[in-house]
Order: sequence, then C-alpha cells, then structure tokens
Amino acid sequence: EDARIRQMKKGHELAASTYHSILTLTEEGAPGRVYAQERLFTQDQIEHFRIGYALNDWETLAVIFETNGLDLAVMAESGLLAKRKQGTGYYDLFRERLMFPITDSQGSVVAFGGRAIGEGQPKYLNSPETPIFHKAKTLFHMHEARPSIRKQNKALLVEGAFDVMAAWKAGVTNVVATLGTALSSDHAKLLRRNAEEVILCYDGDRAGREAIRKAIPVLEEAGCKVSICLLPEGLDPDDYVKQHGEEAFVRILDNECLSVMAFRMLDLKQGKNMQNEGDRLQYIEEIVQMLAKLEHSVEQEYYLQQLAESFTLPMDVLRQELSRAERLLK
Ligand code: UTP
Ligand code: MN
Ligand code: MN
Ligand code: MN
Ligand code: MN
Repeated sequence: EDARIRQMKKGHELAASTYHSILTLTEEGAPGRVYAQERLFTQDQIEHFRIGYALNDWETLAVIFETNGLDLAVMAESGLLAKRKQGTGYYDLFRERLMFPITDSQGSVVAFGGRAIGEGQPKYLNSPETPIFHKAKTLFHMHEARPSIRKQNKALLVEGAFDVMAAWKAGVTNVVATLGTALSSDHAKLLRRNAEEVILCYDGDRAGREAIRKAIPVLEEAGCKVSICLLPEGLDPDDYVKQHGEEAFVRILDNECLSVMAFRMLDLKQGKNMQNEGDRLQYIEEIVQMLAKLEHSVEQEYYLQQLAESFTLPMDVLRQELSRAERLLK
C-alpha cells in the first residue's frame, strides 16, 4: 500500500469524523439534525453508521486537509475535492448533504454517499470511482455486517443506504446494499464468500422489479441460494419500516420470501391479462418451459401441482406438456 493510498484513506477518516462532529456537536449542523429527525434516525443509527453532515460551505474539508498536511491534489483524486476552474485551489464536492461513510473490506472509509437535505439535486451523490473505491466490488455495510452474515449464513440485499439503516434498526443486522449500481458478479462472489443464502429485498417499484430480474442470475451464477421478498407497490424497506413498523418488516422477511421459481411464476403474470384465454395459455406454456429447466423432479412436481390448481387443469396433461418441453431442451 503506497503513501498516496494511505493518504487518501487518512483523509477519508478525517472527513468522516468532521462530518459526524458537525452533525452531532455543532450549531451549524442543525439543518442536518432536522433532516435526520425527519427521517426518524435514532442516536444508535447515527453512531453505528457514523452519519454526518456536510455544511453548505465550499471549503470545510479543503481547509482541514490543508491544516493536517494532506496533499490536496491527492484528496481531489480520491473524490472529496475538486480543482477550481478559475483561480487556484480546491473546493469540497459534498455540500449541504447528510453524509454516510462507505467502508472497504478492512473497515477503512473509502468513499461517501450524500443525501440532499430536502429538495436539493441530485438526490444522492456518491463518491466517484477512485483508486480506493471500486463500486462494482463494494457493498455498503459489508464490513460491519460480515459477522452477522456469516453467523446466519444469510445476507439481506437492499438497494439503498437508508434501506440498510432501516433494516438495521429493525434488528436485521446482516444487511448490505449496492448503492445505486447494478449487482455485479464481484458483488455476488463477495456475498457467496460469506453466506449461502441471499434474500433480495428491493424497492416495490418498476426499477426494483427489473433489478430483481437482473440480480437473480448473477447471484445464482455465483452459487447463492436466492429468495425474494417483494414489498408492496411504492415502498422500499425504509418506507416499509416507517409505515408498518419493525416487527412487520422482520415478519415478512421471515415468512413471506419467495423462491426464485415462485417469484417467476408471479412475475410472468405482469403485462398479461389473466382473464384473457390467449394470455392464460401463453402463461401456462411459459411456466412449463421454465419448469423443464429445473433439475429436481420434486420441485417440478410441486410447481406443476400449483399450476394445475390455479388453472384447474388435470395433472397428467401438464406432465405430458412438461415431458414434451424437456425433450425439446435436449
Ligand atoms: P431510490 O431512487 O429508490 O432512492 O434509489 P429513494 O429510496 O427514493 O431515496 P430516499 O428514500 O428518498 O432518500 C435507491 C437507492 O440507490 C442509491 C441510494 O442509496 C438510494 O437509496 N442511489 C440512488 C445512489 O446511490 N445514487 C443515485 O444516484 C441514486
Ligand atoms: Mn459519535
Ligand atoms: Mn426506487
Ligand atoms: Mn428507494
Ligand atoms: Mn427510500
């Protein structure tokens, strides 16, 4: 590890303490505290996640880095400062935001996420890709969640940092997030190294649904056993905990997760009018095709039974269809 990398990490550590102190100890931090209160953050969360506040000021960090003898060009390369277009010197990239540090596998702070307080744009600003921060290899909260993930042999994967914080508040400590990037195969391998099972709990919206579809094969490719917790339309885990409470969230995670197959059976209904005969037949055909690819006949039989029941079809007809689909696969 060379001096440049060490300096970047030192600067990030300094930035994390600075943002956290501003939020928790200073008068100027009041807007951050108001926002944290609006989002119902507890003291425990603020401490565990080291939540902070970046002032509406152009050189809070620049001055602190300078005072501490850090090279501002290096800190700019690490994503916390930017070079002024006019004149000389550097300015802070994160301003007027609630800040949360992002750690690497060693627990060193290597990046930040910043949530605009109120209506500021963009809503989320994350550190760019830098020599110490590789988005496709980093899962938010992985270092902190690792012991719990290992112990339970299971990880909960959510979309956003606030979702991680909400789950953690509900006592679900084995939780990590991808932070606005698609799940990569490196993310999936990282999860698999620590647990066999991954529960996907993405936002209950179109984007979340699409992200689930994409994440499943990536996780399965890495050897993870996947299950899916679907949230009601319009809610993400943070919203869900706020609306229905912590116990309800834990309950749906424990009791209402779907297998990949069950998810697909549900998902394939999207965009189809199940009152329409043509759509219904197409749906049955698609499910049978999918079942043909399953390895275990118990599983096949189980879902075939469900299909038979929901459409009041005789099992032997469905079995014939399945055999035909299997022959076509070979
Ligand atoms: P969402 O768009 O669902 O955020 O992005 P949200 O839940 O509405 O945000 P809040 O609750 O109002 O604060 C999902 C997650 O993806 C990350 C954020 O962590 C966000 O929570 N994200 C999104 C980014 O990191 N960068 C982005 O540009 C967008
Ligand atoms: Mn503190
Ligand atoms: Mn969303
Ligand atoms: Mn969301
Ligand atoms: Mn949200």
